[in-house]
Amino acid sequence: RVLCCFADMAKKGIQYVVVDAFTAQPFKGNPAAVCFLEDDAAAPAGDGRWMQSVAVEFNLSQTAFFSRDSSCAADATTPRFHLRWFTPVTEVALCGHATLATAHFLFTSVLAERHGVVEFATKSGVLTAKKVPAPEAEEQGKLFIELDFPMSDYVGCDPADELPSIPETLNGAPVVSVHKSVATNDFIV
Ligand SMILES: *[C@@H]1O[C@H](CO)[C@@H](O)[C@H](O)[C@H]1NC(C)=O
Repeated sequence: RVLCCFADMAKKGIQYVVVDAFTAQPFKGNPAAVCFLEDDAAAPAGDGRWMQSVAVEFNLSQTAFFSRDSSCAADATTPRFHLRWFTPVTEVALCGHATLATAHFLFTSVLAERHGVVEFATKSGVLTAKKVPAPEAEEQGKLFIELDFPMSDYVGCDPADELPSIPETLNGAPVVSVHKSVATNDFIV
């Protein structure tokens, strides 16, 4: 964890971490930068342009920004935070690994031990992250976090119509099926 390296962050003293999600080994998994902002600074009305510039500088697949939701009581059993995610190019509506990274930072550094669940107010609604027991006996002592994300309806589609570049993108690998999300136009190939 490092305190403010960017000149622009200096006045605020923002804490950030880089977390390797989905792994217990450093430099493996999927890295995300996580920035802890002052109260409500990551709320939807926060400074998105500044967040985008920070995400460009980190140049990781995702940079997450979170802040305490001041409308949530300080002693609430389930603390709530605002959370937004940026790639180096744009803000995104939903991101799994950066949410996991943010929950890890909260559970290990920001929140007291007694908190086992956190809520994130996001562009995709309220998401929850919960500490859960290790699924295997030999993983005892490691931190496991379960995320509850929105369900999405998918419909089968013809890649030739929808996305002719899929075979080339996959270096010609055979495509078994292509589905498209009804709500967001995301593809599952
Ligand atoms: C940002 O990351 C991409 C992908 O890893 C890389 O190709 C690019 O050179 C990086 N840009 C800078 C400015 O480091």
